Amino acid sequence: MNPNSTPHDAGEFTGRNALVTGAASGIGLAIARRLAAGGAAVTLADFNQEGAAKAAAELTASGATAIAVRVDVTDPASVEEAVRTAADRLGGLHLAVNNAGIGGVTAPTGQYPLEEWRRVIATNLDGVFYSLRHEIPAILASGGGAIVNMASTCGTHGFPNTPAYTAAKHGVVGLTKTAALEYAAKGVRINAVVPGFIDTPLLAAYDPAKRDLLVGLHPAGRLGTAEEVAEMAAFLLSDRASFVHGSLHLVDGAYAAR
Ligand SMILES: NC(=O)c1ccc[n+]([C@@H]2O[C@H](COP(=O)([O-])OP(=O)(O)OC[C@H]3O[C@@H](n4cnc5c(N)ncnc54)[C@H](O)[C@@H]3O)[C@@H](O)[C@H]2O)c1
Repeated sequence: MNPNSTPHDAGEFTGRNALVTGAASGIGLAIARRLAAGGAAVTLADFNQEGAAKAAAELTASGATAIAVRVDVTDPASVEEAVRTAADRLGGLHLAVNNAGIGGVTAPTGQYPLEEWRRVIATNLDGVFYSLRHEIPAILASGGGAIVNMASTCGTHGFPNTPAYTAAKHGVVGLTKTAALEYAAKGVRINAVVPGFIDTPLLAAYDPAKRDLLVGLHPAGRLGTAEEVAEMAAFLLSDRASFVHGSLHLVDGAYAAR
């Protein structure tokens, strides 16, 4: 990474290969689009193979290089295979975004269903660890790069009735800092984005009254958009962030400023 490189232009990711998990929908899709618009060759990895393939076709039609791979981030072998496929087909890996995630059911901690606890932790925390474990060696072998993990304000604050989600996202924050320390001098910058509530399909399950409550948590007076989160991820993955390591980057409409 060049600390003297200047700002963002249409080709800031030209020559970089990126892997985005959970890229078939919402924030991951917006990030894949943003990186492709910046010139990256993008692997869209998702459980939802059809959605990822559709998004990759859209990017290819716009002139970008994009491929889709199926991944289940709860399965280490699947993650290993996806990272290998991305690096083999595009010729190395430089950038990764560990974004795949689920909300899980809501219930107080004393009644939280055991199987739901495992499912949310497996997706939102184990999945980020498995991804880092395979992405880091691939990025090192490609000469260095950057990684963004998708945390949440639920990774910095408690949120009632979401014990598994908040525990997983707090775990993502700790994992981000630890991995960043380990690789800061080796050419891999690792950071986390901390979105507030963002208007994506993940929130579609909420009834309108609950959505209003969520809006009210943001002094900005609205939910964020996937594109606003993508812009922060793009900054962190770019050379513009060349001295940014191991830190949390809020995109939260002042949620955490209270
Ligand atoms: N929407 C929000 O309010 C919000 C806020 C903070 C953080 N986040 C985080 O942002 C990330 C993306 O969320 P979103 O709102 O775009 O949700 P989304 O539901 O629109 O997208 C999530 C994507 O992850 C994929 N996915 C789920 N489980 C997977 C698995 N096991 N393996 C591979 N892919 C899997 C889904 O198929 C989907 O395409 C998540 O980590 C979420 O926790 C979301």
